[in-house]
Amino acid sequence: MKNVIKTMLCLGAALLLSGCERPPIATVQTGYRGTGMEQVYNPRTLAQQAPLNEAPVAPEAASADGPKAKDVYKNVQVLGDLSVGQFARHMTSIAQWVAPDVGCSYCHNPQNFADDSKYTKVVARRMIQMTQHVNQDWKAHVSETGVTCYTCHRGNHIPKNVWTAPKDRKYASSLLGDLAGQNLASKEAGLTSLPFDPFSSYLLDNKAIRVNGQEAMAGVGAYANRASLKQTEHTYSLMVHMSESLGVNCTYCHNTRNFASWEESRPQRVTAWHGIRMARDLNNEYMTPLTSQFPTERLGPHGDVAKVNCSTCHQGAFKPLYGAAMAKDFPELLTLAKP
Ligand code: HEC
Ligand code: HEC
Ligand code: HEC
Ligand code: HEC
Repeated sequence: MKNVIKTMLCLGAALLLSGCERPPIATVQTGYRGTGMEQVYNPRTLAQQAPLNEAPVAPEAASADGPKAKDVYKNVQVLGDLSVGQFARHMTSIAQWVAPDVGCSYCHNPQNFADDSKYTKVVARRMIQMTQHVNQDWKAHVSETGVTCYTCHRGNHIPKNVWTAPKDRKYASSLLGDLAGQNLASKEAGLTSLPFDPFSSYLLDNKAIRVNGQEAMAGVGAYANRASLKQTEHTYSLMVHMSESLGVNCTYCHNTRNFASWEESRPQRVTAWHGIRMARDLNNEYMTPLTSQFPTERLGPHGDVAKVNCSTCHQGAFKPLYGAAMAKDFPELLTLAKP
């Protein structure tokens, strides 16, 4: 009997501890001394992540000499000013980044490369412009590091992390009633029961990301404290998404004694602020207008196209690919091509 109890105790302890991570755990101080702003890392997780965040080696640069793509090919609308050699290098690279398993024919009709009949080619042309736009106009976020197709795609046709508006989850005949867009452990909200779609409000619409009211006291009329409970829950859900996407704690950006205070936040919070606006811009100006190009089976339950959030680029790293500056090797992706 004693042995049975012992075994049960051991099992119980093992079960309890299996939720913990075994030491050593590393902490890195990120804020000023005494603010308790630290990052907690598990070195084993970091070691597993490192190979996933390696950038592929860039092919040797091609010569800018010789005839231009626009003079040789029939239907080049964006990359016409590249030399034929540079153009070929670009095509080989995007094939590797987006469709290494299929190659050129993922976007092309192999009988006629000028043909635009495959939707993937039409989407890819717009993606080239989107990438140029990020690198040229969103330096406040991506700095000189920039992005390439690989930042999001990593050898996949569809980037691993994208979002569409989720299907309605209404259990009219159950005791749970309407879930009100939350109350369900969801991956989007880091397995909390916070709202599972923080993206439509903030990365497509321009709703205020707010918990604290703008005034000291909840007043009346125009002076009322308008940050509702619902808004608060959505804000927290977005924050959980941001932390998970970057693989960091809240203190990577905030001093938790006052989440709202910019003075007490780290500069990374400002970068994140721009990141929110950038994701919103990409979704509204590039992704949504492409909706009609995609076959219906690629659209979400509400008919919207797959869109970008923080994890599309970051994929668990504080900087995508741990800050590897890939874009500089592809100067054709750094500035918007003149039409
Ligand atoms: C991810 C999609 C994609 C892949 C993969 C791809 N291409 Fe392209 N290709 C394009 C797009 C988009 C254009 C048009 C670019 C523009 O308008 O500036 C294009 C244009 C071309 C053209 C010009 C055709 C003409 O006459 O207008 C050639 C040639 C070409 N690609 C060759 C290739 C080769 C060879 C491969 C494989 C190594 C390849 N492409 C892989 C998207 C792709
Ligand atoms: C900021 C992230 C991001 C970057 C950078 C990016 N893409 Fe995409 N791409 C997406 C998203 C999101 C989709 C929509 C997913 C889907 O197809 O449903 C997509 C879809 C595509 C598709 C359609 C895939 C399919 O099978 O439906 C092609 C082709 C493509 N991208 C090519 C490119 C090329 C080429 C580049 C670089 C010039 C590029 N992308 C850069 C996010 C990105
Ligand atoms: C990568 C940086 C970053 C991380 C990590 C982060 N936040 Fe934020 N947080 C921001 C930014 C930026 C804003 C302001 C958004 C805006 O106004 O557009 C914000 C706003 C907030 C607000 C609203 C404050 C107000 O003005 O009412 C709260 C509360 C908050 N964050 C809590 C959290 C919590 C809790 C976590 C961890 C789960 C977290 N944040 C993780 C960057 C971050
Ligand atoms: C188009 C790809 C892309 C998207 C989408 C994106 N980021 Fe970034 N982010 C980057 C790149 C590239 C860098 C590296 C810039 C550099 O080297 O300074 C970066 C850097 C950052 C940093 C600075 C990290 C540091 O330690 O300096 C923060 C914070 C950040 N991103 C937060 C976010 C948040 C939050 C979102 C979603 C709202 C987001 N990012 C969406 C590409 C992206």
